[in-house]
Amino acid sequence: MKAFKTVVASLVGSTLICGVAMAEGPHDKAIKARQAMFQLYSFSSGVLGAMAKGEMDYDAKLAQEMADNLNAAANLGQSALWPMGSDNSNPDNLKNRALPKIWETFPAIAEDAQNLKDAAAVLAAEAGNGLDALRGSMGAVGKSCKGCHDQYRAKRR
Ligand code: HEC
Repeated sequence: MKAFKTVVASLVGSTLICGVAMAEGPHDKAIKARQAMFQLYSFSSGVLGAMAKGEMDYDAKLAQEMADNLNAAANLGQSALWPMGSDNSNPDNLKNRALPKIWETFPAIAEDAQNLKDAAAVLAAEAGNGLDALRGSMGAVGKSCKGCHDQYRAKRR
């Protein structure tokens, strides 16, 4: 009987712990989805960057694929990924670095998103045409990432 009580107590205990750990904020899914999009940006441009810097052998087919992926990801519809209140100032939200300025100055951020779309389109046209072509089209992509982060993404704490 004592053993049974202990089991019950530990089950109840772990349920409570899970309950706390899994507490969900109202925008967690949208935040996760947009962060997944950025991870795809990051992975694709990371492979291309490694080729451009000579840390990885240039491979035209892979370069084309990564550039196409980045170009596709840059053109995803994002209206449901940025619900009002999903910024980094609300402690109920999943950890994120989206500054409230995004919503306060909206739609100004669309200009920065467009810069990435433009750069990714050029990259997708050039990346498979040799290392020099890849190198020549990477700079504008990096600039577009940084341009948006400098304004709208919080520094890592
Ligand atoms: C139009 C604005 C904008 C552009 C363009 C942009 N980012 Fe971001 N990025 C953000 C914002 C805002 C966040 C914070 C989002 C959050 O934490 O919910 C972010 C977050 C990230 C993250 C962290 C994701 C995570 O899992 O928390 C990475 C990595 C990233 N961006 C990479 C890139 C790369 C690489 C590019 C360019 C190819 C890029 N971003 C272009 C605005 C932008």
